[in-house]
Amino acid sequence: MKLDIKEKEIIEERQGETLDRPATNQKKTARKFYIESYGCQMNFSDSEIVASILESEGYQTTKLMHEADMVFVNTCSIREKAEQTVRKRLSVINKSKKANPGMIVGVLGCMAERMKAKLLEEEKLVDIVVGPDAYRDLPNLVGEVDGGRKAVNVILSKEETYGDISPVRLGGNGVTAFVSITRGCDNMCTFCVVPFTRGRERSRNPESIINEVSDLAKKGYKEITLLGQNVDSYLWHGGGLKKEFDLLSDAEKEASCNFAQLMEKVALVDSKVRIRFSTSHPKDMSDEVLHVMAKYDNICKYIHLPFQSGNSRILEMMNRGYTREWYINRIDAIKRIMPDCAISADIISGFCTETEEEHRETLSLMEYVQYHFSYMFKYSERPNTLAQRKFEDDIPEETKQRRLAEIIELQQVHSHNQLKKDIGKTYEVLVEGVSKKSDDELYGRNTHNSVVVFPRKNYKAGDYVNVFINECTSATLKGEAI
Ligand code: 5AD
Ligand code: SF4
Repeated sequence: MKLDIKEKEIIEERQGETLDRPATNQKKTARKFYIESYGCQMNFSDSEIVASILESEGYQTTKLMHEADMVFVNTCSIREKAEQTVRKRLSVINKSKKANPGMIVGVLGCMAERMKAKLLEEEKLVDIVVGPDAYRDLPNLVGEVDGGRKAVNVILSKEETYGDISPVRLGGNGVTAFVSITRGCDNMCTFCVVPFTRGRERSRNPESIINEVSDLAKKGYKEITLLGQNVDSYLWHGGGLKKEFDLLSDAEKEASCNFAQLMEKVALVDSKVRIRFSTSHPKDMSDEVLHVMAKYDNICKYIHLPFQSGNSRILEMMNRGYTREWYINRIDAIKRIMPDCAISADIISGFCTETEEEHRETLSLMEYVQYHFSYMFKYSERPNTLAQRKFEDDIPEETKQRRLAEIIELQQVHSHNQLKKDIGKTYEVLVEGVSKKSDDELYGRNTHNSVVVFPRKNYKAGDYVNVFINECTSATLKGEAI
């Protein structure tokens, strides 16, 4: 998944901190931990589970790294650049550990899983390496380090969903929250490291999801994003690894819950709580899901539907499980069932053997769909993925870069065009906070996930405000509350 602007800002803010103050020479009752997260929304959500596990052992969370006894970095492996960012950060953290040898440094998440104990050799000052399915073991691993040993647990699980753990909301705005509904991925896209770092796909018990959403609603949260690597393939059948519906017994079928059914249950929790979800997979996105979206006003009319490439031969090499025609069929279904639904995508330029003509098919698919927004990447070969083993990474760097630039340029035009269409319309905006540019303005999002900025007056975070849109930049709508 991806690093959005908000996440990047959090990281930049944290990188600006002073790190060289000693951490353990203060008197305190409980040991404190600090967690920093990189990469996808799932990682941010996992860090909240980690915080809950540590707090239940009596540790305290802190937002200040310099006062922490334990520093955890929740890492991303999706592209080489993501790993480089984490390594740079680890070297900064290691400097402060040199000044304060009592501080425990732990690496969590996908890089921990990908590199396992090797990470301890490469990053000598790391004490703990723990993969995404082993967070319950963290208190024991801290105990190991207290005993003078380095500690590693990267065992992947067939059952773990952390369904019973109530996440500690870290650094949020008190308005929007993530709730994970599946873990792992069985799709095996040839370019992707996730099936290896996050393991097999498992769905979480719907009852625990509804309980978490109800609890968030009671605490005043107004927007829930259901998270999974492929939310459309959510299927609860009593626990354990994913199974296809047709392979369930009659009793399992009777008790099962698919994504459309789950989303309906979640939408019914509280009509004043908005629902979003990410990420959808074109091969699994059913009309049933689209009809549930259309039926409930509190389900946002926005779908993130990565297509990766507009060419069917490349899609087959990527093992995406659909063709260009299938993807277009899904887009047409969205537009038929919800004419006013915004769509965004993930796109990869320069995958192995991609020709100029095939690249132009990516551009033409963008023209067809007119995405509101896209996350756009150059292909980055990842160790041990199927593509790395089977194909040559043969597109020159300059070509990948130039194709990516063409994709970005086209997306900017489409994003701007989509926002221009909103001028003169009124949208219900959920306020998330005060605008970064001016204390006199608030920002929030409309159903399409577009950012809307408007004069503050007496409104505050968590309010729903009807805003008349009177202008836009290439990425933001501006308006007046009415
Ligand atoms: N290189 C470039 N982009 C990648 N993604 C996943 N793996 C790679 C890779 N090896 C992108 C895909 C995916 C998003 C989360 O990251 O577009 O949808
Ligand atoms: Fe990776 Fe494909 Fe799974 Fe997404 S669906 S996490 S791209 S393997």
